[in-house]
Amino acid sequence: MLPRFPEGFVWGTATSSYQIEGAVHEDGRGASIWDSFCARPGAIRNGDTADVACDHYHRWPEDVALMAGLGVNAYRFSVAWPRIQPEGRGPANPKGLDFYDRLVDALAEHGIAPALTLYHWDLPQALQDAGGWMNRDTAHRFAEYAGLVADRLGDRVPTWITLNEPFVHMTEGHALGVHAPGEALLLDALPVAHHLLLGHGLAVPELRGRTSGQVLITNNYSPVWTATDSAADRAAATAFDALQNRLFTDPVLLGRYPDLSAYGVDGAFPFVQDGDMNVIAAPLDGLGVNYYSPTRVAAPNSGVQSGGASVLSEVEGHLDGTGLPFEDAPIDGYPVTAFGWPVVPEGLREMLLKLRDRYGAALPPILVTENGCSVRDEPGRPDQERIDFLDGHLRALHQAIADGVDVRGYFVWSLLDNFEWAEGYEQRFGLVHVDFATQRRTPKASYHWLRERLAEYR
Ligand code: NOJ
Repeated sequence: MLPRFPEGFVWGTATSSYQIEGAVHEDGRGASIWDSFCARPGAIRNGDTADVACDHYHRWPEDVALMAGLGVNAYRFSVAWPRIQPEGRGPANPKGLDFYDRLVDALAEHGIAPALTLYHWDLPQALQDAGGWMNRDTAHRFAEYAGLVADRLGDRVPTWITLNEPFVHMTEGHALGVHAPGEALLLDALPVAHHLLLGHGLAVPELRGRTSGQVLITNNYSPVWTATDSAADRAAATAFDALQNRLFTDPVLLGRYPDLSAYGVDGAFPFVQDGDMNVIAAPLDGLGVNYYSPTRVAAPNSGVQSGGASVLSEVEGHLDGTGLPFEDAPIDGYPVTAFGWPVVPEGLREMLLKLRDRYGAALPPILVTENGCSVRDEPGRPDQERIDFLDGHLRALHQAIADGVDVRGYFVWSLLDNFEWAEGYEQRFGLVHVDFATQRRTPKASYHWLRERLAEYR
């Protein structure tokens, strides 16, 4: 039996629009950067696209019923900006809003509280054509879009998340080009970080004026371990930590950028205008934490073998020899997921304690907005890895709460097997199996395990 969690704890599952909805041409939806990226030969494993994905746009009642059967009291989903503003600007497309309106009402009927993410990487292509997140205007467009969504749903959505994992969006999408929009700008992608943060900050007052719900941003965090205790390895860890864990958090919670001097960046960012940092540091009601695994780094040119599947190893793979102040090092001795990510439940507790120690009184309450693992899809496989993963991480989370970290909820990534970006449909993160040929949903053993755990709390 799992230990008891605090009264009122939020239990949910998480998804995102592009990864599950499909119906990319329906009801006036405009094109997104992911539609364009999927059309690039070689961009997605096996040439997969998300044109149909889980067909959630049509099958959402079944998916809501699956959540009701699971017994969660919350659901984190994202709104597809191109459904609301097909061209990324101008009046709202009512049919796009209608879809989420119906979903929110159906969730309420089952006592499931919506946690709505406004941006999970599917930028309208029309905005990309105008420069995308490299263009400061996109931040203003985002705030306008946030207001349109809140005009319709502000009265019924208690949790609003502005951005999902802007670090990954910047790094994979704009620095390395392995995600949409497929730009490989390396460190020249830094304006993307600032404009995403500015968009977040500008959206906060738009939301405040239209909802009494709580407003958060979701970042992905990874405790950074050093290969050895040498001063050089420790410096490498500090440098990587600034990028992965601080770049999108210090500005929001402290109103300033972290020290990026290890990257040859002096902090006098030409793209930061007067007043921007105040906008970005608008007070929040919570911080969304996505956790998957720790990272280990060494000093550059240490000759250590790459750990394989982290964002960092991709950074390194692409930037080898370009003077980055760190190198990826392997994490041995732990089980790995189908993705090759090490399973380190203790890393969740470590990261939560780190956030508390680092930000102190500036840290708002935390929601773990994503945690989960991919498991290979083999007939008859018992799904025990996912059960062990969830059990371990929930125990670590419980310990962090006992240590005094104010964590209010936990969302499993993901409800359904879905479109895992550049990996297509190969990595399966769902509590529910999806047969993509027939769209048949089958709850896995982990779904039943979690259902029983949640029933113990009722
Ligand atoms: C984080 C992202 O937010 C989500 O879109 C992705 O599917 C999971 N990580 C798993 O990689």
